[in-house]
Amino acid sequence: MNISITKTTNPKQKPDQNNLGFGINFTDHMFIMDYDEGQGWHDARIVPYAPIPVDPSAMALHYGQAIFEGLKAYKSAKGEILLFRPEKNMQRVNNSNRLLCIPEINVDDCVQAIKEIVRVDAGWIPSAPGTSLYIRPFIFASEPALGVRPSHSYKFIIILSPVGAYYPEGINPVKIYVESKYVRAVRGGLGEAKTVANYAASLKAQVEAKKEGYTQVLWLDGVEKKYVEEVGTMNVFFKIDGEVITPELTGTILPGITRMSTIELLKQAGIPVSERRISIQEIYDAHAAGKLEEAFGTGTAAVISPIGEFSWNGKVIKVNDGKIGEVSQKIYDTITGIQSGELEDTFGWTQK
Ligand code: COI
Repeated sequence: MNISITKTTNPKQKPDQNNLGFGINFTDHMFIMDYDEGQGWHDARIVPYAPIPVDPSAMALHYGQAIFEGLKAYKSAKGEILLFRPEKNMQRVNNSNRLLCIPEINVDDCVQAIKEIVRVDAGWIPSAPGTSLYIRPFIFASEPALGVRPSHSYKFIIILSPVGAYYPEGINPVKIYVESKYVRAVRGGLGEAKTVANYAASLKAQVEAKKEGYTQVLWLDGVEKKYVEEVGTMNVFFKIDGEVITPELTGTILPGITRMSTIELLKQAGIPVSERRISIQEIYDAHAAGKLEEAFGTGTAAVISPIGEFSWNGKVIKVNDGKIGEVSQKIYDTITGIQSGELEDTFGWTQK
């Protein structure tokens, strides 16, 4: 794919690496490509980061036909720039596209676009421990029209943001509110797509949970409100009596790349792991029996985030005395070690 590059003549000041927060600062450039019916995806270009013109009737603004991704670039101690499994994110773009009736995109072209934009803004990749360059590819329906149907034109954009930890807690355990009133997704819906609607659906519950002092909500299945699904910003894992369990993918859960990598790392370490339906009652029963050893979330933004407390229908339980568990720490160290090039990547996950 041919990508034209127009560099900024007005570079921005870079933020303090030790106080990055998440998704607040954006680099000097962005990648844009258009889709128009009859032409396909065209006009791949890197241009200075700036607001873009959007027609007030652009279909994404009215019907939410929009998807996004999240991945990270890391600078290794040797000064190499590493991407973690970018092809998996771009394959997931097409899964999301299929569910949202957005035209598919060439995975290799997208990985090339990511590499090119990261190369142009390489000076923005932070190197302080726990920092990285967050890459946010997204697609939205740009056709100006008000009828409810798939759009005939789209924009694919990649923006970059130097980031620190997603949660203010960092690697310290987060408190999670188990949601019994609202639901995120139901079977046959959009739960497994990385689409804006799923995040819009999560906001009300999140705001209410925050008021109670909880960082995020844990979603239960949308029908019986019995089985554990995901946290919205991360997938979840529980260690019960020596075995690690994560909810199986049934169409309502986002198939996380950190989730997939965690399962592979656990298998390699010889730690029993299973993907199956698990009810919130089973987790509370395991806690009562002293067998709930650890709980943690996985995600690109969240990395590995230990969970120290759950609240479900007014019943609060603490996991591992609110401390980081051994397996959570081991997976965190291994995955961040591979991502940052500190540990040998025997899986072939990273790309320079
Ligand atoms: C990610 O982990 O990359 C996510 O997209 C989660 C959140 C920031 C929306």
